Amino acid sequence: MAHVISICGSLRAGSYNRMAMRLLPQLAPPGMSIAEAPSFAAFPLYNADIQNTSGFPAGVTALADAIRAADGVIFCTPEYNFSLPGGLKNAIDWVSRLPNQPFAGKPVAIQSASPGPLGGARVQYDLRRAMVFLDALTLNKPEVFIGACASKFDEKTGELTDTTTRTFMTQQLEAFAKFIDRRPPRLRRAGRTRRRLDMATTAGDSAFGSTAPPFALPATNGRSYALQDIAGAKGTVIAFICNHCPYVKAVIDRLAQDARVLLAEGFGFAAICSNDAVAYPEDSFANMRRFAEAHRLPFPYLHDADQSVARAYGALCTPDFFGYDAQGKLRYRGRLDEGRTAAPPAGARRELVEAMRAIAAAGVAPAQQFPSVGCSIKWKVA
Ligand SMILES: Cc1cc2nc3c(=O)[nH]c(=O)nc-3n(C[C@H](O)[C@H](O)[C@H](O)COP(=O)(O)O)c2cc1C
Repeated sequence: MAHVISICGSLRAGSYNRMAMRLLPQLAPPGMSIAEAPSFAAFPLYNADIQNTSGFPAGVTALADAIRAADGVIFCTPEYNFSLPGGLKNAIDWVSRLPNQPFAGKPVAIQSASPGPLGGARVQYDLRRAMVFLDALTLNKPEVFIGACASKFDEKTGELTDTTTRTFMTQQLEAFAKFIDRRPPRLRRAGRTRRRLDMATTAGDSAFGSTAPPFALPATNGRSYALQDIAGAKGTVIAFICNHCPYVKAVIDRLAQDARVLLAEGFGFAAICSNDAVAYPEDSFANMRRFAEAHRLPFPYLHDADQSVARAYGALCTPDFFGYDAQGKLRYRGRLDEGRTAAPPAGARRELVEAMRAIAAAGVAPAQQFPSVGCSIKWKVA
C-alpha cells in the first residue's frame, strides 16, 4: 500500500487546486491512499532567527513528519506571478531547514490548476527546481496542467466536470504509483534515496540549538565510547568521515591537526564512519583501524555499523561537521576550511577551530558558516 500525502499551494477556501486535490483519493489506483497533509497556513514567515531562538514551529515539524512518513507527495498548486505562491514556498523553506530534510529521496508529483490557458505550467518548473535542490524524486510525465479551470469544476460542489482532465489526473496517479514502486521497499518506508555515486553533497540543513543525539559506538582503538565520554568542557565536535572518499582523504591530515589544537584547548572530538562497508569495503572497520593509524588520528574513530547515528544526527556527507557548545547544543555545521579535494591556499582560515573557539567564548554560532562539501554518506539499500 502506498501512502501518499497531498499539499495544496492555495490557502483560499474556494481554491480550484484544492478542488482538484480533494478528488485525488477517488482517482487513486488500487493500492494507493491519498490524505491531505497538515496545513502550512499558520507558519510564520521563515526567519533563521526564529529557528535559532525558538526552534521549529510545531506545525513545521508536523508537516515534515507527515512528508517523511509518506511514500510520496503530490502538490496541487496555483501559479502566482509565474512562480510558486509565497505560502507554499515558505512552507518548503521551513521544512527544508530540518535535519533529515524530509524531501530527500521522496517521490513527488505535481498538478496545477489556473483559470488561464497554461494551467500553471510555469509554477511546475519552478517547483521542480526547488525539489532538485532538496533531492526529491519528481515524476516527469505525465504532467497535469488544468487550464481554464473555472470551466472545468463546478464551483458549488467542487466536482470535476471535464472528463479529459479526470483522465489526465488518473493517468498521472497510475504513473506515480509505479514510480513509487520502483524504489526498494526499505527506502520507500524510510524516505531515503539510493546514493551509490561518489557525488558531492553539501551539509547545510541544521537545527541549530538541537541537542547532540546520544550514542555508544566501538572505536578503532578497541574501546567503546558514549557521547559523554567524548564531550569536552568547552564544546564538542562530531565529524562524520570515512576512509575512501576523496574529500576526506584531502583534508584528513589538516583535520587531525585542527583536532589536536581543539583537544588541547578543552574541546571534545570524535569522528564516526557510517558508510555501508559491503558496498564500500575500503570503509570496513578493519580499514578504519588502518586509516586511523596511518593518519595518527588524535581522536576516537567510531564505527556506526547500522548507520543509526548518522541518521540521528542528519549527517549527509563526508566530511560533515557538527559543532556543539558546552551544553551540547548544535552551534556549528560548517566546513573545516575552504579546501575541498585540493589543499586550501596558504594561511586559509581554520574555520572549524575558529568557530569552536567563538562558541566557547560567546556561546553563539558564527553568523557565517559555509557548509561542508563531500561524498554522500553511503546508505545501505537492502
Ligand atoms: C498573486 C497572484 C498571482 C497570480 N499569477 C498568476 C500567474 O502567474 N499565472 C496564472 O496562470 N494565474 C495567476 N494567478 C491567477 C490564479 O491562477 C487564480 O487566482 C487561481 O484561481 C488561484 O488558484 P486557486 O483557485 O487554487 O486559489 C494569480 C493570482 C494571484 C492571486
